[in-house]
Order: sequence, then C-alpha cells, then structure tokens
Amino acid sequence: MMLQATLSTLVPAARRESLAAAVRVRTSCRAFANAPTPQEVAALAYHAGRYALPGAFLTLLDVPEDAFTNITGCRKAAAVCLQGDSWLHRLNAGAIGEAFVLEATAMGLGTCWVGGSFRREALKSRIPQGMSLLCVIAVGRPCIPLTPPPTRPRMSPEQLCRGRWRQWPEELIRAATLVQQAPSGMNQQPWTLEVTPNGEFAVQSPVASALDAGIAILHAELALITPHTWRFSDAPDAPLAVAQPRG
Ligand SMILES: Cc1cc2nc3c(=O)[nH]c(=O)nc-3n(C[C@H](O)[C@H](O)[C@H](O)COP(=O)(O)O)c2cc1C
Repeated sequence: MMLQATLSTLVPAARRESLAAAVRVRTSCRAFANAPTPQEVAALAYHAGRYALPGAFLTLLDVPEDAFTNITGCRKAAAVCLQGDSWLHRLNAGAIGEAFVLEATAMGLGTCWVGGSFRREALKSRIPQGMSLLCVIAVGRPCIPLTPPPTRPRMSPEQLCRGRWRQWPEELIRAATLVQQAPSGMNQQPWTLEVTPNGEFAVQSPVASALDAGIAILHAELALITPHTWRFSDAPDAPLAVAQPRG
C-alpha cells in the first residue's frame, strides 16, 4: 500500500473549476488547423513543466507532419515520459497528462492522447535523457472549435458506480460524473467506482490499465473538495486507488 499526498495538491484550487468546465467540451481532436501561437506555446510549456508527479514528466515537442498515422495538421505534442517504469509511475503519468489536456482545452485548444497511432521512432530521440516515452498528447488549434459533444459513448452511472450511488454525497456524485466523461485508450473505460463503508471514494481498475486509471483519478480529483490523501495498492483484492478523507 502506498500513500501519496502530492496528487491531491497537483491541481491548484483556483484551477479546479476551469478544468472541470473543460471536461465538458474535451473530445479527442484528430484534425488540427494550426499549431498553437507562440503565447499559447509558452503557456503550454508552463503547464507541461508544472504538472509533474513522482516518475512522470511532460515535455513539449515540435513534431514532424507525419508523426501521427491518423491525425492531420498537428505540429506540437506533449511527450508523456517515465523515469523508471512502475504501475504507480504510469498512474501518475495519466494524472499529469490529463491535467495538461484540460489546461489546453481551457485555452480552446484541441488535444488527443495517442498511445499507439504515432511513429514512436521519430519522437523517441527528442525526449530528455534517462526517460522513456510512454505516449504523446497531440495539441493545437482544432479545425472545429470546441463545443460539448451532443452524446458520449460511455458507461451508464449504473455500470460505472457500484452500490447505491444515488445516495452518495453530492461531492462524490460529481466526482463520478467527471470520471464518466474521462478519455481512455480505445474508450475501454477500465474502471468502476465505489464508496467504502468508511466513506472513502475508491477507484477499481486493473493494474495493467494504470495510465487510464490516472486519467480517471485526475477527473475525480477536480470534484473532491474534502481534504484527502490518495492511497494506492496493486493487491488483487484491493481497489487500485482510494481517496481517504483526512483527519
Ligand atoms: C491512454 C490513451 C491512449 C490513446 N491512444 C490513442 C491512439 O493511439 N490513437 C487515437 O486515435 N486515439 C487514442 N486515444 C483516444 C481515445 O480513443 C479516446 O479518448 C476515446 O475513444 C474516447 O473518446 P473522446 O476522447 O473523444 O472522449 C487514446 C486515449 C487514451 C486515454
């Protein structure tokens, strides 16, 4: 079992509402009209540097036009890098990458997490020494301005939440609503949510999906206003992550 205080302080309190609002308009963008402006690049570089957790880092890259196999017009990306590969580092990578995605979304930029459909060899040599490239996040001015999608193919609340979720505290229902909209590789949504008898918010997910779980946890984190500490475990009979109220 591991405790981590840094995740609950990752997103500054003043940014939580803007990032929660960005969740509503974010969808994966695969057609970009332009690269971000120099001012936007400066802001993105700030966020890439600011959002870091143990073992997981972001670095902003110029990318060649043919870097992606299914994305057009993208010339900038955040490389999601690991220092040592443990499942907890991958979970952290999901959380920091999604914080970056939502900051970019709040700026009106399009983003797409890309784990498979990119030319890894073309980008590998551009990341800092001693780090490995987990995946990338394409970013730029979208061809179609961001608007909330009319529908999202996602699990229903009954599929996502175990137990009597309608009776959960409002804060935890909001956390579940934000998790429901989270992106995941091939939209697999490899998570379920539960509230333990002690009132802890638990995220169940296979360890193999730690990156996706980190994304979901970042979304939940935006709603968790009660001071808490995240507890992580890869034991087969325990939830992957639990937000444990403090005090
Ligand atoms: C870790 C991760 C890896 C992904 N890899 C790819 C990819 O290689 N190519 C791609 O087109 N989309 C990729 N996606 C985007 C997902 O397909 C997308 O998030 C999901 O279908 C939900 O759609 P939405 O993001 O529009 O809500 C990835 C998403 C995540 C979170």
